[in-house]
Amino acid sequence: MKTKLISSGDEEGLKLAASLLKSGKLVAFPTETVYGLGANGFDSEAVAHVYCAKGRALSNPLSLLLADVSQIEKVVTDVSDKAKKLIKAFSPGPITFVLKRKNIVPNIVTNGKDTVGVRIPDHEIARKIIRLADIPIAAPSANTSGRPSPTSAVAVFDDLQGKISAVVDGGDCAVGIDSTIIDCTQEVLTVLRPGVITLEMLRQVVGAGSVQMKEDIIEENHYAPSAPMFILEGAPNKIEDEMKNYIRKAVDEKKRLGIIASDELIAGISNDVLTYSYGNRGDMKAIAGNLYRALRFFDDHKVDVIYAEGIDKMGIGLAIMNRMYKASGYRIITL
Ligand code: TXA
Ligand code: MG
Repeated sequence: MKTKLISSGDEEGLKLAASLLKSGKLVAFPTETVYGLGANGFDSEAVAHVYCAKGRALSNPLSLLLADVSQIEKVVTDVSDKAKKLIKAFSPGPITFVLKRKNIVPNIVTNGKDTVGVRIPDHEIARKIIRLADIPIAAPSANTSGRPSPTSAVAVFDDLQGKISAVVDGGDCAVGIDSTIIDCTQEVLTVLRPGVITLEMLRQVVGAGSVQMKEDIIEENHYAPSAPMFILEGAPNKIEDEMKNYIRKAVDEKKRLGIIASDELIAGISNDVLTYSYGNRGDMKAIAGNLYRALRFFDDHKVDVIYAEGIDKMGIGLAIMNRMYKASGYRIITL
């Protein structure tokens, strides 16, 4: 199969993307978080192809992308007042609500679970395609399972070229990490995956006692680069000193090193090592936006090992470190 590249400015192309989706084909498109791999959410066969293309375990449920808040109640039921408040506060936006599903949602979307994740992306092109297709779109991130989520059309191509019908190119994703996921099916709501809609922001809307954070589950090979990766945590000067040690050792051992760190740290180390800056220290939005790109950069450059500068787990920092830990397989060096 030849994968068609559609520009987001091409009106006819967007119509084609919508009709491909409607007819059961797979189309990747941009959202504000990461690129999604879309399929008709009412078509079990199309949804089955999503699992195949990604190499994803059937046990891992998909969520649905919708064009407008008004469509939520078409696919779910029992939306509590707290959930309604959060939907009103944060949708469209980078947050997925897990709610009780209606039977209209095929079993294969949710792996038979009685809940389904729903999200209204804050992205004009995504919503336009979904509106034109006029169906809920089952859409996981458009990467091969285990790899970092794609934040550009090129990254989608790298993983899925030849396996899907089309990719809509809408440039780089503004947020850059996957949505916050919140389970709204119990009295106390639970954040299943942290994102840029933070625990603090959620608690401000429904009260501190109403939202808890799920304990991190250690999954294998999530967001993982090809090379082994280590996260360095501690005071910035200690991290910098330790990075310098690793660089010296790598030169001795003739290993190709990759370093993911802040502008500040990179400014302090030697030029003859491959680095990727995720932005200024403390600029959480930039770091979130650059993280997956950094991981894929080192895949392209085939390094032997990656060392990354960890950050404070405050606010969005919690979501960033959640992804970094997973990407590193929890290889954490505390200084
Ligand atoms: O930002 C995002 O959420 C992106 C864009 C494309 O919308 N999508 C995304 O989908 O990250 P995916 O499938 O890569 O990650 C969704 C996560 C999965 O880890 C899945 O296990 C969980 O959401 N999930 C989906 N449905 C669920 C449910 N009913 N209950 C609990 N977890 C669920
Ligand atoms: Mg994913």
